[in-house]
Amino acid sequence: MSPLMQDVARVLISEEELQRRVAELGREISEDYEGLDPLLVCVLKGGYMFLADLTRHLTIRHAIDFMAVSSYGDATETSGVVRILKDLDSDISGRHVLLVEDIIDTGHTLAYLMDNLRVRQPASLNVVSLLNKPSRREVDIEIAYQGFVIPNEFVVGYGLDYAENYRNLRFVGVLKPEIYAAELERE
Ligand code: PRP
Repeated sequence: MSPLMQDVARVLISEEELQRRVAELGREISEDYEGLDPLLVCVLKGGYMFLADLTRHLTIRHAIDFMAVSSYGDATETSGVVRILKDLDSDISGRHVLLVEDIIDTGHTLAYLMDNLRVRQPASLNVVSLLNKPSRREVDIEIAYQGFVIPNEFVVGYGLDYAENYRNLRFVGVLKPEIYAAELERE
């Protein structure tokens, strides 16, 4: 077993389930945005794998751009205070913007990003998130498209990391508690 796999307690969403759902989302978004030439904005880093797969299922004209944000919180919790590390290259005024996220947890990151982008007057602003963890929500977020609702467990893979590792796993898995236990003890 690979060193990364040894740290995974179990597979939560298999590669096949992920690929099937991402293809469905691609079809749905292609229908809804037909003729609108949307701009897909990927929130780095976690969204990179979802964006790469999702866009390969889009059949419409579209552009992509990236934002990098960082919360001021620690590694396992987000604090609600967000810092922009990399802003968009493009002007979004009058454009149909679709924010692409890997996971919505407390909702603070997305709430901040949506407020920040709305000021730039896009024609529309929607969210597609691969994963949604509603049990952790602290801020209300309207999610136009979601892949999977997941329980409150520490998940890694398909873009999601723990301490920058595990992003490359092809499935979404639950991390063994002992991997992050030392950090929880320090909190
Ligand atoms: C994750 C995820 C979201 C955010 C969601 O990013 O990609 O952006 O947390 O949490 P929230 O709903 O509680 O705000 P993270 O800060 O782990 O950075 P990364 O994408 O670079 O791994």
